Amino acid sequence: MDQEKVIVIDFGGQYNQLVARRVRECNVYCEIYSYRTDLEEIKAMKPKGIILTGGPNSCYEADAPTYQKELFKLGIPILGLCYGAQLMTLILGGQVESAPVREYGKTKVLIDEDSPLFKNVSKTTVCWMSHFDYISRPAPGFTVTAHTADCPVAAAEDRDRNLYAIQFHPEVLHTKEGIKMLYNFVKGVCGCTGDWQMERFVEKSIEEIRKKVGTGKVLCALSGGVDSSVAAVMLSKAIGNQLTCVFVDHGLLRKNEGDEVEAVFGPQGNYELNFIRVNAQERFYVKLAGVKEPERKRKIIGEEFIRVFEEEAKKIGTVDFLVQGTIYPDVVESGLGGESAVIKSHHNVGGLPDYVDFKEIIEPLRNLFKDEVRKAGLELGIPEYLVFRQPFPGPGLGVRIVGDVTADKVRIVQDADAIFREEVAKAGLEPAIGQYFAALTDMRSVGVMGDERTYDYAVALRAVNTVDFMTAEAAEIPFGVLQKVMGRIINEVGGVNRVFYDLTSKPPATIEFE
Ligand code: XMP
Repeated sequence: MDQEKVIVIDFGGQYNQLVARRVRECNVYCEIYSYRTDLEEIKAMKPKGIILTGGPNSCYEADAPTYQKELFKLGIPILGLCYGAQLMTLILGGQVESAPVREYGKTKVLIDEDSPLFKNVSKTTVCWMSHFDYISRPAPGFTVTAHTADCPVAAAEDRDRNLYAIQFHPEVLHTKEGIKMLYNFVKGVCGCTGDWQMERFVEKSIEEIRKKVGTGKVLCALSGGVDSSVAAVMLSKAIGNQLTCVFVDHGLLRKNEGDEVEAVFGPQGNYELNFIRVNAQERFYVKLAGVKEPERKRKIIGEEFIRVFEEEAKKIGTVDFLVQGTIYPDVVESGLGGESAVIKSHHNVGGLPDYVDFKEIIEPLRNLFKDEVRKAGLELGIPEYLVFRQPFPGPGLGVRIVGDVTADKVRIVQDADAIFREEVAKAGLEPAIGQYFAALTDMRSVGVMGDERTYDYAVALRAVNTVDFMTAEAAEIPFGVLQKVMGRIINEVGGVNRVFYDLTSKPPATIEFE
């Protein structure tokens, strides 16, 4: 049986990935496609339902993104959100115009009619609105099912044709019962049974990898991060020691991290694979000596990493496949799916391979969101501490040391960071904080310790709450915990005489320091 699928057609909305993630949380597989995707292509995928996203345009303007009217005649249930709702209305003969009152933020929505979309939803509910246009007249055949004080058509539907239009955003958590509405759409309206299960995905992927690889040799760059770890374990379960993992220790890892990765994946570890650890610390420190400019540092680290990896790959000889830990947001953000502008050319997509002799790439996590990668990791039996690791940037501590990098500064930031992590864990704060770490500023200042004058570095502690890492707020760590961390860092880490706590949100700051 084919996998059930719901398709998100993206009109440039900022929440496009969130829509797909929410659908998958209902155990229904969902992919994002640009509004430029051909109708025939959409039809060929046999989706059980289609969701049209929001977008920044006015749908009645000449060059605004649109879609063929035939989409609405396929007999496939369609849900339009915000711009998607307006576009559906306009195409089907209703009216959309600039709203006399713009709505932005949490808004009280009154449900007027029974609707399959609003099953088990309260008659008065709070939804997230963000629009300057509104539906002033629904399309013929549509019934208005909800309104707000300023928006006469907050929701409308043509139940006979299974077409649903809602002005607000059910995918964001500010819409209190939004997940219920999306569940009602995919399960109730589209009739999906919910066959997207991680257990099945893992089994199927292992089978497919076996079939694809045959007796071939596979090479994987293992960083110890969540994505590459899950990819490596999946490969190891599928093909055992036909897999070689190369782990480059660039000397910019957290304290003891290199040994921890080796303990799990190395010869004494849990998996059948060939593990090669390259201790390349010195090489990186030499290349980075005296370099202060952040982008140059990143570039040097990236290039040196490739060089080390290349040398190891050459020792192995020709391999048949190269594994990459690409995940779905990388694909979408690289402009390969959906309508997102190219936010960053991600190092995992279309990056690495031209320097290693191989025939094909394997990307076993290409269709998964981060939380699904973690679920797959648990399914594969990977230890929880690895699966729930915080994000750690590829350039490692290189971007947490402001200014030039030296072995001594790496030691300072590693030790301070280990103390910070230990104390946060001890205080039981860990689950609530998105990401936290110590960084080293390039500020030195005068202090006094014992009876001596010191002239030492300032460590900065950073802890943020974030859902998507695009925006973040400084986490409220109890003052007592911060004081304890400060005391321990000053006493235990040589070369530090001041500790700051970074209160800045993102924006204007970023999460990392460089
Ligand atoms: P920023 O500093 O941009 O970080 O607010 C957002 C998230 O991305 C991580 N990050 C990186 N991850 N390579 C990575 O793999 C990088 O160069 C990189 N820079 C930042 C950062 O840790 C945070 O989670």
